[in-house]
Amino acid sequence: MPDVKAGETDSRAPAQLELPDVDDALFRALHAKAKPFSLLTPEKFYNLYKAIHYICDRQIQGDIIECGVWKGGAVLMAADVLVSRGMLNYEIFLYDTFAGFVERSDNDVTAGGKEIGKVRYKDFIDETRRNVALSTYPPPESISFPVM
Ligand SMILES: C[S@@+](CC[C@H](N)C(=O)[O-])C[C@H]1O[C@@H](n2cnc3c(N)ncnc32)[C@H](O)[C@@H]1O
Repeated sequence: MPDVKAGETDSRAPAQLELPDVDDALFRALHAKAKPFSLLTPEKFYNLYKAIHYICDRQIQGDIIECGVWKGGAVLMAADVLVSRGMLNYEIFLYDTFAGFVERSDNDVTAGGKEIGKVRYKDFIDETRRNVALSTYPPPESISFPVM
């Protein structure tokens, strides 16, 4: 790693700085585009990137479903990888409340003693739609947004 001192600029793209072992220009470009709209860590983004390439390499058929979409960054990465590979025949289903977590009920249990899930947002489906539309994945009707 080059030594960058305070006030100096490192010309490498942010994704490479965050994952120094990953030397992949396409990943860096797609990550920079998608990460403003996602809560995923760079490592999780890279896992997703490799998973979509795996599907493409093996010509695996089917649909793609994301459960918990938030602002759409992860599916933006996935769709852009599909575009880069010319694999445009998947239907993509994006499940979310598009308003955050639902109230906890008696049926819910805690995982590892950790309670999550009280975050509510103003309905964000329009913002998510706009973000996902930053991909050229065609045609638009192949991506649906079922609200749970
Ligand atoms: C951690 S975020 C998902 C992260 C996202 N994949 C990304 O790239 O940042 C969790 C999402 O799950 C949604 N969600 C939480 N509880 C849900 C439920 N019971 N049904 C549907 N969606 C839910 C929230 O609205 C939120 O968008």
